[in-house]
Parts: sequence; structure tokens; C-alpha cells
Amino acid sequence: MAGKRKVVYVCSECGFDSPKWQGKCPACGSWNTMTEETVVPVKQDSFASRTFPHTASQPIAISQVESGLEQRLSTRLSELDRVLGGGLVEGSLVLVSGEPGIGKSTLLLQACASLCGHGPVLYVTGEESLSQIKMRAKRLHISHERLYVFAETELDSIWSAIEKISPSVVIIDSIQTIYNPQTAATPGSVSQVRECTLSLMQYAKTHAVSIILVGHVNKDGGIAGPKVLEHMVDAVLNFEGDRHSSYRLLRAIKNRFGSTNEVGIFEMHETGLSVVPNPSAAMLSGRPENASGSCVTAVLEGTRPLLAEVQGLVTKSAYGSARRTSAGIDYNRAMLLLAILEKRAGFMLSSYDAYINVVGGLSLDEPAADLAVVIAIASSYLEKPVPQNVAVFGEVGLSGEIRSVSGASQRIAELARLGFQKCILPKACMNDLSSTGAIQCIGAATIQEALKAAFESFS
Ligand code: TYD
Ligand code: MG
Repeated sequence: MAGKRKVVYVCSECGFDSPKWQGKCPACGSWNTMTEETVVPVKQDSFASRTFPHTASQPIAISQVESGLEQRLSTRLSELDRVLGGGLVEGSLVLVSGEPGIGKSTLLLQACASLCGHGPVLYVTGEESLSQIKMRAKRLHISHERLYVFAETELDSIWSAIEKISPSVVIIDSIQTIYNPQTAATPGSVSQVRECTLSLMQYAKTHAVSIILVGHVNKDGGIAGPKVLEHMVDAVLNFEGDRHSSYRLLRAIKNRFGSTNEVGIFEMHETGLSVVPNPSAAMLSGRPENASGSCVTAVLEGTRPLLAEVQGLVTKSAYGSARRTSAGIDYNRAMLLLAILEKRAGFMLSSYDAYINVVGGLSLDEPAADLAVVIAIASSYLEKPVPQNVAVFGEVGLSGEIRSVSGASQRIAELARLGFQKCILPKACMNDLSSTGAIQCIGAATIQEALKAAFESFS
């Protein structure tokens, strides 16, 4: 017997529900996120409660708890393993999110190839037909008798398939297309996504089966569905990159089994994704020689130093107000750095258009990239190239001071590995350096000092 239907308004950001519509969610304060949903209270004999009965557990002294080593399954994609913290943990629930067409399905299908070595893998697709999957698998040269594909969106049928195959890994592509028939809400709605994730989570934990969910992102780049989805899963990996460039970044936003902010770098080819063995070299390939407006910096992505090229272009404004764009650096941060350059170093940028870009579709959110933006813009303004073997890093403060950043030695080591000979860095970091190798390190306390070191003379 179905329960009585009722209409509720659910916030798509945080999952808060209310009997009446409101413009602003009272729980998280987001505007225009309350959507109408019809819900039927979940029946007591629903499949989830029938199949996976809740066993009354007892509190237990922590000293008595067995600390069994977590089993990790390797995907043989070294960058994916790295972001997962050393492989896919048995019984974990992982969410892979990203924009449409970025390569989520491709990545997971490629991971299936070696996950099959550990046991059967079930790939559930709610978005593509079996023949489409087959075509893709052919292109990626993936074929294994233990890889099962299933084009289904109803949760009950998925449970039946799981019972039949007893896979060690289940991939759900995507969670927004799956629906539980016991819940009246439409697929993709907050309640459906929450209900389905909850039953999948319970299954993963009780049966030591790893489940990977694919999640869509909304137009703001956040994961579509309530925030609670992110709380429920063990790891959230975001697949990002510029669709026009072949590089893709897989970033761990949350990971209960490894370090967060770890990043994996892939390249998309005709035959699928391949790991990039030397990301810094890849990011700097094709760098113009002796061109003004280009500056190399070293950022830390998780534990790994990565070199990136920041480009700046300033041109005299044709109209009254200057035009500014920024790609790969937060727009407001870029504007702040332009203002600092104007006020503290006397560059009259207000009558110039300014364009800032990070090469390779990378987005740099670390303040250590500040100095590279300042130097790249100054280089374009002065029409003086930064010497080819010079790199910079450091956070720039509002008074034009250069503030210290963490991991200076790691950044220097990466620059040395790629043949850089001179590095301009925060003066305060000079004492932290363990060994500078062949690199000449120049500590700068203010942007004026950094500009002098980069261009020898400027006016
Ligand atoms: P896909 O994995 O379908 O993206 P998502 O699941 O995130 O929506 O990837 C689609 C894009 O990847 C598509 O634009 C084509 C490209 N692609 C390749 O360039 N080479 C390949 O071998 C494959 C399978 C896809
Ligand atoms: Mg897909």
C-alpha cells in the first residue's frame, strides 16, 4: 500500500524541506532553490529495509574494535589511484562529479578494465544505450568477461542485478538518473537522489562493495543535488578542465581515505584518457620564447608541486572604461592584483584593458600564484619579457608586500627539475629553504623588489 502523497518544497542546495514555498531557504540561506516535490512516506516493507535489515548493534570499547587494514583495489590509472589515496577502498562510496562531456564515463570505463581483475564489475548506465557503451569500450580496447553493463534506472532492478552478479565494484552513471519506485519524486530530484544514495551507501558498507557514483554539476559548477549527498559519500572527486584543451584534472574535494586537494592529471586522446607522467613539462610545453607577458609559477596541488604559465596582456583602452577578463585566476583576485600594481608600483593601468590567462585550462586558486600575475601584467605593460629561465611564486598583500607561502623547497625542487635557474620568492621563505640546488633564489619583500629582480630595471 502506498502511503499518503504530500507536497513539500525541498531546497536543492541543502535538502531542507518545508510545507510551503519560500524564496529563500531558511536553513542555508540560498535563494530560489526550493523546488516542489511529491513524496510518499517510505513503506516499512520497502526493498531497502527488507533486504538489508538493520541489525541492532552495541556500543563497543574502542580498544576492542578490530582495526583491519583497508583493502585497496588498484585501477591501474596511477593518477586516479593517487587521488583516491592509493586505490579504491573496499566498501567505499565515491562520487565523481564534473561537467557534461568532460570524460567521467570514459574515466570510469577505463578504470573498470583493471577493477575486473579483483572481481566482477557492474556498470549501470542510465544515460547511454548498451550499444553506445560497447562502441566506447571498443574504442578504448576494453573487454573483459567479468565486466557487466546494465542500462537501467530503476533501483529495484539494479538490486536484482547486484544479487545475481555479486560484483565487487558497482558504477552508477549517473545518480541523477536513478530512481527508487517507492519514492514518488521524479528522478534527479533532491529526495530521489538522497534516497537512492542512502540505500547504495548502506549496501556498500554492509557488503564491502565499492560503489562509484557519477554526479552532474549544476550551472554554477556545484554538484547537482543536496549538499547532504557530499556528506553521505566517502570521497568526492571533481573532474575538471577546459573542454577545448586536452588536459583534465581530477581533484579530491573530500576523501575519508586519503589526502584532500590531491590532484590527478590526465590527457584526453582519440583512444581515451591517459595519465600525464610529467605534468609540469606538459603545462609549459609550447611556451613562447622571449615574449612579454608570460611568467612561470610553481603552485602546490595537494602534495605535488606543479608549474604553470600565467599570461597577461595589457593594451590601451579604446573606450572610456577599461575591459578586464581573467581565465584560470579568480576574477576578483586578478582585479585586486591590478589595483595593487597601480597603487604600489605606479603602473597606470586604469586606462588599459587587461587580460589574464593560465595556459592549459588550469585554474590556480592558490595565493602563491599572485606574484606571477603581477609579473606577467608588468611584463606586458613594460613590453619586457621575463627571462626564459626565471620563475616566481609568492602571495601579494594589499600594501604590495610579498607574503610567505608553504612548501617553498618543494616548489624550488620542481623548478630545478625542469631546468629553471632563477626564482623570485618571498623573502620570508628564504630561511625555510633546505637546498636550492642549482637555482639562484632571490628573496623579495615587496613587489617593487620582485619587479626589479625580474626585469633588472624598470620605470
Ligand atoms: P564522456 O566520458 O562521455 O563525458 P561525460 O561522461 O563526463 O559526460 O566523454 C565525452 C567526451 O570525450 C566526448 O566529447 C568525446 C571525448 N572522447 C575522446 O576524445 N576520446 C575517447 O576515446 C572517448 C571515449 C571520448
Ligand atoms: Mg557520461
